[in-house]
This record gives sequence, structure tokens and C-alpha cells, in this order.
Amino acid sequence: MTKVIQTVEELQEEIQGKTVGAVFTMGSLHQGHAALMKKCRELIGKDAILVVTIFVNPTQFNNASDLEKYPRDLNADVKLCAENSVNVVFAPSVQEIYPKDVIVKQISPGKIAEILEGESRPGHFAGVATVVNRLLEITKPQVTCFGEKDFQQLAVVKRMVEEHAIPVQVIGVPTVREADGLAMSSRNQRLNTSQREISTHLFEALNRVKINLESGMKIDESVKDVQEWLKNFPEIELDYLKVLGTDLLNPGPGLARVLVAAKIGDVRLIDNIECEIGVGNV
Ligand code: PAJ
Repeated sequence: MTKVIQTVEELQEEIQGKTVGAVFTMGSLHQGHAALMKKCRELIGKDAILVVTIFVNPTQFNNASDLEKYPRDLNADVKLCAENSVNVVFAPSVQEIYPKDVIVKQISPGKIAEILEGESRPGHFAGVATVVNRLLEITKPQVTCFGEKDFQQLAVVKRMVEEHAIPVQVIGVPTVREADGLAMSSRNQRLNTSQREISTHLFEALNRVKINLESGMKIDESVKDVQEWLKNFPEIELDYLKVLGTDLLNPGPGLARVLVAAKIGDVRLIDNIECEIGVGNV
């Protein structure tokens, strides 16, 4: 049975003395979130408590209409959690997470938050780091799973946990995709039919960069070539297409990441894949 809890007090009673695994979400759950639940259960074992939090965190939205349009459906979310052996769904109010009489510790997300998403969405990662820290304090998990879909967010959380010596294992889970390659996201629902068709070119763009690199092209050339190709689809308003090392600093030879962000209509989508940088690419 999946229990739905709305207050911190009740949640803490429920998890007291137990081993906890936590998956933090903003709801509108899909198979990407389910993959995190499955991985977390696998890591904590069948007797531990798996908590999924559902909280649309206002402080990480730098666009009021994006926050307002964020899809919400608690019943459907609880159903998906129940199908994935979740013990507790924690769905608090804004007041419960940011109570007026408690000073919530503000977390500075560090240098890694100044590029990519951080550059395009000022304040976003400060909001994410602060709420994740607060949710970690409330749920006190031994393990928490985050999606590689939001690769920079995963890096920000890992860095925060390390810097603040928070006793939790942060595990990255590979991106779950639709059959045509589009990374699953709650925002995909806002795409109309033609936008949905076009959106698959983002994953294709990532793969084209990867193939260029594999064929020996330099990083800059590989990216420029795909930026040109993307011009075939004027509906895609590219924000960035970049190749960075897995630490999101400069790429050197070895494993790296191709990352993309673009707007299609008023829907902003992000995606990334792994790639390999050889000596010839640098
Ligand atoms: P949300 O977008 O709901 O995502 C919750 C978790 O699910 C994140 O770790 C995200 O990376 C992961 N996820 C989303 N789509 C995925 C996919 N297609 N494959 C694999 N994992 C996927 O990210 C947030 O919420 C918020 O910023 C949050 C961390 C909850 C803080 O408010």
C-alpha cells in the first residue's frame, strides 16, 4: 500500500528508524521517474522505505507562466508510485517546505551552475539545490536517485552533497526515452502534434555530434556541422549545443557529454548523451 503524506511531522513519524531511499520529483510522473523508483528500490532492498516526493518547487522557476503551466495530477502520480513499490508519497504544500517560522538554509550551487541551464535560467540551480537540501533533511535517505536526463542538476546535487558532507549516496540513472528517441519529460505533453514530431531531432542532433566525433572531426567542427543541420527545422530555437567533459568542465580525451537545449514553441526541452573524446578530436 502506498501512503500519501502531506506534513513533515507525519512523514518523520513514518520513517523513524528505517532505512530510506528517496526520489524527488515535481510530479506528472512518467516512466523516467519510474526508472528512478526501480533503481532506488533495487539499491535499498525490499524492507526499506521508498519515499517519492512530489513538490512543484516555486523557487526554481524563473518564469511565472512555466510554473503556472506545470502539469499536476496527484491521483495518476500515486497510481504510478503504487505500481513501483513506493511506500510513501510525500506531497507537501509550499508552506510545509518553506514555513514562515523556519529559516530554510539557502544553498549556493557553485560554479558548475553558471553555465548551460544556469546561464539560461538564472537562479534555477540555487532553487534546486536549496529544495533538494531541504528534502534531504526531511527524508534523511541513505540513497537518492537522480536522472541523467538533467545531467547538470545531477552534477549540482553531487557537488552539494560532497561539499556539505551530507550522508547520502547520490545515484545517476540513465535517461528513459520514447520509442522515437525523445527524452521523456512532463513538458512533452505541451507539444502539439507537429512540434512533437520535430522534437525528435534534438536526440538526433546529439547523435550526429557523437558520430562526427567518432569520425575524427574536431569538437568545434562537429558541433557547428550539427548547428547548421538544425537550421533545416526553423521551429527549433536552439539555446545551446555543447560537448563537455562528464564533470561539465573542459573536455579532454576520455568520456564526455553532448548536451542540448532548445525551445519548440514555448516549450523548453533539454537532453544529453554520453560520447567519447579522442586525442584527434581536441
Ligand atoms: P522532475 O523534473 O520531476 O524530475 C525528477 C527526477 O526525475 C529528476 O532526477 C530527473 O532527472 C528525473 N527524470 C526526469 N525525466 C527523466 C527521464 N526521461 N529519464 C530518467 N530520469 C528522468 O528534476 C526535478 O523534478 C526537480 O528539479 C527536483 C529535483 C525534484 C527538485 O525540485
